[in-house]
Amino acid sequence: RRWAHNIPSFSHLNAVNEQDIAHFSNILAPSSILSTLPSVATPADDLAPYNLDWMGKYHGQANSVLRPRTTEQVSEIVKYCAHRRIGIVPQGGNTGLVGGGISLQKEIVLSLGAMNNVRSFDPVSGILVADAGCILQSLSDYIAPHNHIMPLDLGAKGSCQIGGNISTNAGGLRLLRYGSLHGTVLGLEVVLPDGTILDQLSTLRKDNTGYDLKQLFIGGEGTLGIVTGVSILVPPAPQATNNIFLALPRFDNVLPLFQIVKRQLGEIMSAFEYIDRTAYDMGLKHGLGPLLDAEEVGDSECFILVETSGGNNDHDLEKLNHLLEHLLAADQPLINTGTLSQSPSQFNSIWAMREGLTECCQKEGKPYKYDVSVPLADFQKVVDAVRERMISKGLYGDHAISKVMGYGHVGDGNTILPTSEGRSTYPFVGNLHLNVIAKHGYRPELEAALEPFIYEVVGEYLVSPKALGMDVDDMDPASHKGSVSAEHGIGSMKTHALHYSKSDVSIEWMRKVKQVFDPLNIMNPGKVLP
Ligand code: FAD
Ligand code: MLT
Ligand code: ZN
Repeated sequence: RRWAHNIPSFSHLNAVNEQDIAHFSNILAPSSILSTLPSVATPADDLAPYNLDWMGKYHGQANSVLRPRTTEQVSEIVKYCAHRRIGIVPQGGNTGLVGGGISLQKEIVLSLGAMNNVRSFDPVSGILVADAGCILQSLSDYIAPHNHIMPLDLGAKGSCQIGGNISTNAGGLRLLRYGSLHGTVLGLEVVLPDGTILDQLSTLRKDNTGYDLKQLFIGGEGTLGIVTGVSILVPPAPQATNNIFLALPRFDNVLPLFQIVKRQLGEIMSAFEYIDRTAYDMGLKHGLGPLLDAEEVGDSECFILVETSGGNNDHDLEKLNHLLEHLLAADQPLINTGTLSQSPSQFNSIWAMREGLTECCQKEGKPYKYDVSVPLADFQKVVDAVRERMISKGLYGDHAISKVMGYGHVGDGNTILPTSEGRSTYPFVGNLHLNVIAKHGYRPELEAALEPFIYEVVGEYLVSPKALGMDVDDMDPASHKGSVSAEHGIGSMKTHALHYSKSDVSIEWMRKVKQVFDPLNIMNPGKVLP
């Protein structure tokens, strides 16, 4: 088994010293350089936020942080770092969940936060060109008066940056409607690991002139270069948005519900999100909701949020009301109860219940976060398997793991298709966020009980057609692997789990790509590749 979570050794890299700081002072204004070295002597509190990730799980080691304002400054810094063999960790809003934006040893942090200007926006075509350090929410606010929205939305929107979103290929709550960033990003400006500026800031929608290099940086997690500028296609704001929140008596109802909702709402469905009972109760405890009458909810096993985005509010409401009536009137209703938002504030409250769960996990303790693709029918089975494992090891309860829960994105899942003919049903795979709360903090023995166990459980689904309930002869297993990271990336957390999702050949070619772009291995070393 390839299971070793060693901190890589960076003997090929140098730590930042006073001469380096003196050089950076020729490139940047003094206020753009933070360092613990005596010539700068930044107070520890000012440097600390760059050395701790959002979860408080990864503690960075950088003694210096640079905050350039222009692409040319980034280029000059990178050229120098390549010459001096100084490792660089690009950092956006530092909301990543896999330890990708944190310095593992002595790499410098290059924060994009001061590059935060919109370069242009064309409301006719919906093309937005912006610096990578623009915060997602501020871009939404910028285009809102022009009746446009960003094609992605996530709970971290108030802090995450568009460059970070692109570098993690963030999915989020709108993927079902607007697709992934691989489709909406039209062009990128990137500073490569030797300092060269790769200007592919195209605003063309159609451009089939050879290899599409920008795709490598979308989800590249800062290992191939630093994204400094972004050209992105943003959609017009929908004329009408509504949402409903449903309580389901049984977990097994989720899939049939999804099929009915999809059929009845058709093109206006824009989100279908899942919350299990533990997550819902946690949300209530921390002030999200209540959205539904507690008695009517009863012992419901899980909850579904459905959003519609359409062109005619009356038409959409009619469809939603009809859907709710249909669901409740059935002989064996798929739902116990449900609510349709009646105002913008109710619409926001319903979304807050889903979006707020990540923060609630933080309030409960320290979350081990797993972000996997597994068959939807087995979401609950996977969560239960992890809880039972912790119980069997005596690690479940307020002294250790206090909660195991699941929530996630169902609507943007897909059915795994057969490679050969003759079968009509194949499992529908969704993106489950499995959260395991360590009440009193991260501890090695908890992690050892969880990993690689969880990856093994998930890996079974991913690589074994039998576990998927298929005849082995039906398909080529290698062509049907799912993912140990559906949307959060690999970072430093999952480098040693990459092989559960990627074949040896894929990893070898990823290494070759890294070697071509970054032969000195200075760009976010120790991330993504094992
Ligand atoms: P950072 O955390 O700073 O960096 C993330 C990675 O990108 C690092 O490897 C870093 O080195 C690299 N990077 C950052 N900026 C650049 C750049 N300009 N050039 C090159 N590399 C760069 N993710 C989802 O997919 N879907 C969700 O729904 C979702 N919801 C979230 C909700 C919350 C409350 C939180 C805290 C996180 C959530 N995430 C979600 C995780 C997600 O990865 C981040 O929120 C976001 O995409 C990261 O952006 P950031 O600017 O904070 O990047
Ligand atoms: C989400 O969908 O809420 C995010 O990916 C963050 C999380 O997993 O908590
Ligand atoms: Zn998510």
